[in-house]
Amino acid sequence: MRSLIDILDFSVDELQELIDTANDIIAHPEQYSERCRGKKLATLFFEPSTRTRLSFEAAMYELGGNVIGFAEAKSSSAAKGESVADTARVISCYANIIAMRHPKEGAPLVAAMNASIPVINAGDGGHNHPTQTLADLLTIYREKGRLDHLTVGFCGDLKFGRTVHSLINALSRYEGIKVVLISPEELKLPSYVKKDVLAANNIPYVQTTDLESVMPELDILYMTRVQRERFFNEEDYLRLKDSYILTPDRLWNAKEDLSILHPLPRVNEISVAIDDDPRACYFKQVLYGKYMRMALILKLLKEAGRI
Ligand code: CP
Repeated sequence: MRSLIDILDFSVDELQELIDTANDIIAHPEQYSERCRGKKLATLFFEPSTRTRLSFEAAMYELGGNVIGFAEAKSSSAAKGESVADTARVISCYANIIAMRHPKEGAPLVAAMNASIPVINAGDGGHNHPTQTLADLLTIYREKGRLDHLTVGFCGDLKFGRTVHSLINALSRYEGIKVVLISPEELKLPSYVKKDVLAANNIPYVQTTDLESVMPELDILYMTRVQRERFFNEEDYLRLKDSYILTPDRLWNAKEDLSILHPLPRVNEISVAIDDDPRACYFKQVLYGKYMRMALILKLLKEAGRI
């Protein structure tokens, strides 16, 4: 049974197929409005979410399907001690596909190993967030017309930011990608990502604490929130949370065609004064996430022989 747990579960050709489908849905939404009639998506969210859960739900409704699920662990039998494995087996009796978010790294993989329907990782701890990466890839593709030969700056919490880890993994397979890592010392990209992804794929990268000095090089600036929920103590979070705040004056030396992305939610790291700048792409990114999730649901249900 095909699931999406890690963005590397899909080849570059399959990612392009999803992008092409999403673009076709954007152009001809009416042609997709009945594709999942009679099918059910289960959204199992053990952690808070606005975009991911509701975009999955909107995606399934726009495909003509239905949605069941829960939005917090305490309203499910996990609160009584039910395991992820048992939950996945149970939900397989009710739905055709699962989208799961969980604070524990690897929980969606455990679900996929026990479910008899496709499982989509909707974010697992500080590990991966492959469907955010799908949204990011469509945004970059629509803004730049390509996914290769780009200099991509990642700024903020590169340690706990699972969206960063997934997007770096995805981009590592395209030609001519250069990565610029901008973070405080304490929130640097984990060594395993640098070694196993960047170094292993010969992706040139630099690390810095200074956004201004690298700004002129960037084609994409991927801002991130400092992930309060992953800190062990509040003092460290408070010290680091405002390390980078993007304001209009900080873009003085940026390219005219820079694209500013952010997986959202934002806290302070992008001033609302940037929102009207044509380079701000983060609300488009939200919308593109829904279309990529529609394309993903279609692909996985088709491969499972359910549509
Ligand atoms: N980008 C993202 O995952 O947002 P939510 O936490 O609101 O789903």
